[in-house]
Amino acid sequence: MLENLNTPINAAIFGASGGIGNAFIEQLIRTEHVQHVHGFSRSGSALTHGKYSEHILDITDENAIEQAAKTIKEQGQQLNLIIIATGLLHREETSEHTALQPEKSMRALNSDNMQDIFLSNTIAPTLVMKNFLSLIPRDEPSLCSALSARVGSISDNEMGGWHSYRASKAALNMMIKNIAIETGRRHKKTCIIGLHPGTVNTGLSKPFQGNVPDGKLFTAEQSAAYLLDVIAQRSPEDSGKCFDWKGDEIQP
Ligand SMILES: NC(=O)c1ccc[n+]([C@@H]2O[C@H](COP(=O)([O-])OP(=O)(O)OC[C@H]3O[C@@H](n4cnc5c(N)ncnc54)[C@H](OP(=O)(O)O)[C@@H]3O)[C@@H](O)[C@H]2O)c1
Repeated sequence: MLENLNTPINAAIFGASGGIGNAFIEQLIRTEHVQHVHGFSRSGSALTHGKYSEHILDITDENAIEQAAKTIKEQGQQLNLIIIATGLLHREETSEHTALQPEKSMRALNSDNMQDIFLSNTIAPTLVMKNFLSLIPRDEPSLCSALSARVGSISDNEMGGWHSYRASKAALNMMIKNIAIETGRRHKKTCIIGLHPGTVNTGLSKPFQGNVPDGKLFTAEQSAAYLLDVIAQRSPEDSGKCFDWKGDEIQP
């Protein structure tokens, strides 16, 4: 479908200011067949390029997502690549938020923090899919992916812990499957997938890199390059599934 990304690509990348999202954008704008890239985040990226448009957007605000999609539609653009590379695993305390850490034990579960994790990792990417899938062409190949995580696999869970993050990614995988089924009824050439990027050296993983074996911590550039290869090889039969950075399917 998007084999080797050799078809003209118009892309939207959510998480433009983040480690992996930013690396996706950098690589896409250097790719000859990519015509234009829209990048979205709350804080913005430092990127400037003739093929790149920067958008400030909080994807927990559905009205703002709807408006952003409408703006692109009004410019007469369709999108054939959508990558949602946003997420929340931990945060420092601010005037607006309490501190948040992945829970090692049930005793650490807290309703407010659970809601924030589900809002960021499950609900917000789902609302992006709801509003932006209206921008994909009906009869041409397209792909939409949300970054998930191997820890969202229920069958692969042998260690427990990280309760809310794991559950939010498992729920995201279910939303990907459901949206893939529904979208596939009208868009036969569309593929909607989850992607596990590996363990990647970004702000999200920074406090948890201590136990990562040598050579297993990817740079964001490495991970984005692997994932773009995985994306390029997908076809509509893959829709609804989750793949790791090697292209291996992760079972639910
Ligand atoms: N790094 C890893 O080892 C690893 C492993 C497995 C899975 N993943 C997954 O990969 C994805 C990307 O992670 P990363 O490592 O690149 O994280 P990151 O560097 O922390 O980037 C996260 C991005 O999400 C954006 N974001 C968060 N909430 C947002 C909101 N409400 N509205 C708009 N943008 C929002 C942030 O932008 P603003 O703050 O500017 O809005 C930022 O651009 C996540 O889904 C993560 O769970 C990462």
